[in-house]
Amino acid sequence: MSAASQPILQAGGTTPPAPVHVGIIMDGNGRWAAARGVPRALGHKAGAEATRRVVEAAGQMGISWLTLFAFSSENWRRPADEVRDLTGLLRHYLRHEVGQLVEKGVRLRVIGDRSAFGPGMQAEIERAEAATLGNTRLNVNVALSYGGRAEIARAAAALARHAVAGEIDPASIDEATLARHLDTAGMPDPDLIIRTSGESRLSNFLLWQCAYSELIFQPVLWPDYDAGHLREAVAEFHRRDRRFGARTG
Ligand code: IPE
Ligand code: IPE
Ligand code: MG
Repeated sequence: MSAASQPILQAGGTTPPAPVHVGIIMDGNGRWAAARGVPRALGHKAGAEATRRVVEAAGQMGISWLTLFAFSSENWRRPADEVRDLTGLLRHYLRHEVGQLVEKGVRLRVIGDRSAFGPGMQAEIERAEAATLGNTRLNVNVALSYGGRAEIARAAAALARHAVAGEIDPASIDEATLARHLDTAGMPDPDLIIRTSGESRLSNFLLWQCAYSELIFQPVLWPDYDAGHLREAVAEFHRRDRRFGARTG
C-alpha cells in the first residue's frame, strides 16, 4: 500500500473525511535549485514532478477539489527568461499531462486572468479544460496569472456592468452575488490552504475564499513535496477546531 492510499487514522481509530477542498501555494522551486547550484528552470521542472505526485495523492486520499497556485499575477514581474521558462513549462504540462489526468478522473480548470497569456497558451488551456470536462473524481484548478485582488476587482466590474445595464439591482448585491462572479463560482471554499517553503503569507492567493480556511505552513521546498507531506498537513487539519465564529461548547 502506498503512503497516499493509507487511511488517515486518528487516536480514536476513526477515519475523518478528507478536507473537501485543499489549496496549495507551491513555493520554493528557486531555493531548491539554488541549494543544488542548478538553474532555476530545473527547480520549476522538479516542481512540476511534485505537482504530478500530489494530484495522484489527493485523488487517493479522497480530496474532491485541489487548487494549485502555479503562477501569480505578480510573477510577471520576474525576469523575462524566467517568465518564459515558467510559461513554457506550464504549456508543456497542459499539453502532455491531459491523458494522465483523464485516466485519473481529473477535471482540470484554470482560474486567473488567462487573457494575459498569448493565444497559443490560451488555446492549450481551452483544450485541456475541454478534454477533462466529463471527469468527476477530482477537480483540479490551476491558478495561472491569478491574483485574489484582481479576481475580486474583475467580479466588481462585472457586477457594475450588470447594474448599469439594468440587469441587477445594486441593493440586492450580497456576498453570494459577488462569489458567483469570481473565477471560483460554484466551487466550495478551501477548507485547508497549504504553503510550502517556510514562507508564512498568502501572496494574493484566494483572498475572498480563504475567510475560514485553515492555514498550514510547511518548511519543505515544493520540489521535495510528496504524499507523506500532504498526509501530514491533512492530519494537522484534523487536529484543528473550526468554529466559523460560533461556539462549539
Ligand atoms: C514557486 O517557486 C514557483 C512560482 C512562484 C512560479 P519560486 O520560484 O517562487 O521559488 P523561490 O520562492 O524563489 O524559492
Ligand atoms: C506565490 O509565490 C506564487 C506561487 C507559488 C505561484 P511567490 O514566490 O511568487 O511569492 P512571494 O513573492 O514570495 O510572496
Ligand atoms: Mg517563491
